[in-house]
Amino acid sequence: MEKLVISGPTSLKGEVEISGAKNAAVAILPAALLIDGVCTISNLPNISDVKLSCEILEALGAKIKWIDANTIEVDSRNITTTQAPLNLTSQFRASYYIIGAMLSRMGAVQVAMPGGCQLGARPIDQHIKGFEALGAEVVVEKGLINAKADKLIGGSVYMDIVSVGATINVMLSAVLAEGTTIIENAAKEPHIVDVANFLNTMGADIRGAGTDIIKINGVEKLTGDATYSVVPDQIEAGTFMLAAIASKGDVLIKNCITKHLESITRKIIEVGGQIEDFGDSLRVWCDERPKHATIKTLPYPGFPTDLQPQMGVVLSLADGTSIINESIWDSRFQYTDELNKMGAKINAQGTRAFFEGVDHLEGAPVYSTDLRAGAALIIAGLVAEGETEIYNLEHIDRGYENIEEKFRNLGAKIKRVEE
Ligand code: UD1
Repeated sequence: MEKLVISGPTSLKGEVEISGAKNAAVAILPAALLIDGVCTISNLPNISDVKLSCEILEALGAKIKWIDANTIEVDSRNITTTQAPLNLTSQFRASYYIIGAMLSRMGAVQVAMPGGCQLGARPIDQHIKGFEALGAEVVVEKGLINAKADKLIGGSVYMDIVSVGATINVMLSAVLAEGTTIIENAAKEPHIVDVANFLNTMGADIRGAGTDIIKINGVEKLTGDATYSVVPDQIEAGTFMLAAIASKGDVLIKNCITKHLESITRKIIEVGGQIEDFGDSLRVWCDERPKHATIKTLPYPGFPTDLQPQMGVVLSLADGTSIINESIWDSRFQYTDELNKMGAKINAQGTRAFFEGVDHLEGAPVYSTDLRAGAALIIAGLVAEGETEIYNLEHIDRGYENIEEKFRNLGAKIKRVEE
């Protein structure tokens, strides 16, 4: 078993280069199944969820050639089966994008119910509602999802809940459908725009991505023959920004889209951090103890739930009592038990947690309960006095490329050891 061992405290200083966005990459790869041709995807983060997505595509008949560590060529001309390997699709959440893509391209698909981080109930009713509005028949039975359609016809879908996954999935299913699909109350996250841009580059006709009404005019075929670069990861950028604040450091975050980071930037300024915006990079620093704050997670452009645990570390160390309301996931405060082992004083009750700020944390053995909780524990380990050991690294490896190396370049004393 591998663990991370961190010796703190360290004040992070230097520059970090942000990788391509995980949540865009794991949607763009299934989207490549829609192309009756060859495309090149670059700036892919080299993480286990991307490798898993590639394995699923290959099992369906696509051919994948790695050009370098972050670039692949996908040839989807010959899809050979509609049965996605159950052992792979059950391992992570984003495998649900195979449904929308395969329904559109092949008119049928069988996948396992998606796995992924345990953040509370993760229904897919809005995805299914969208597929059915386009004429698909979807049966969920014994942990399997079977979807088929003789012919998908564009339709109107009003999302009851703002869902990133459902918005992208219905968009995928509509690309090759006959006629026009309108998605209302759509999610607006940057990776939704990125998936739409990728598909449009390959010949799709999607308008309005990034607003709450998306219009997809079905096209007969996507031909590919183009290269697409995945958008920078705003959650990874936010993770390093919050690490800079928690550690009272001074970090230049390079290769990010600062517009995507506004909700985080505002909160960082509110807690006493400082930011210099260069458009495609941000200098983030903090000289004093952070101030307390109240935060509610919301769909984009609100404060992202995927940065809530990392912000929780900052607030654990803040001057005064802070409150976080988690409005997206029912069960996203599991990390607070681990932070309390390190000396934090957090009282989590359901979807709300109270953070009574302490002046320091102390190293302890802790367990990563999900991907972003793992990132939060790394930040806690960097600022804590003494040695922190972090277990369950598979969660962290799903979503962060070269995370130890990136933190080491900022002065952290962090190493991965086999126990
Ligand atoms: C995506 C992200 C995840 C992030 C989340 C919210 C990926 C691979 N994952 O997850 O990192 O935390 O967005 O920003 O991109 N819901 C329903 N029915 C549905 C779908 C969702 O009730 O059919 C609810 C969920 O329970 C949740 C809320 O809607 O309360 C938002 O979920 P959603 O935006 O769909 O999250 P994911 O796409 O799974």
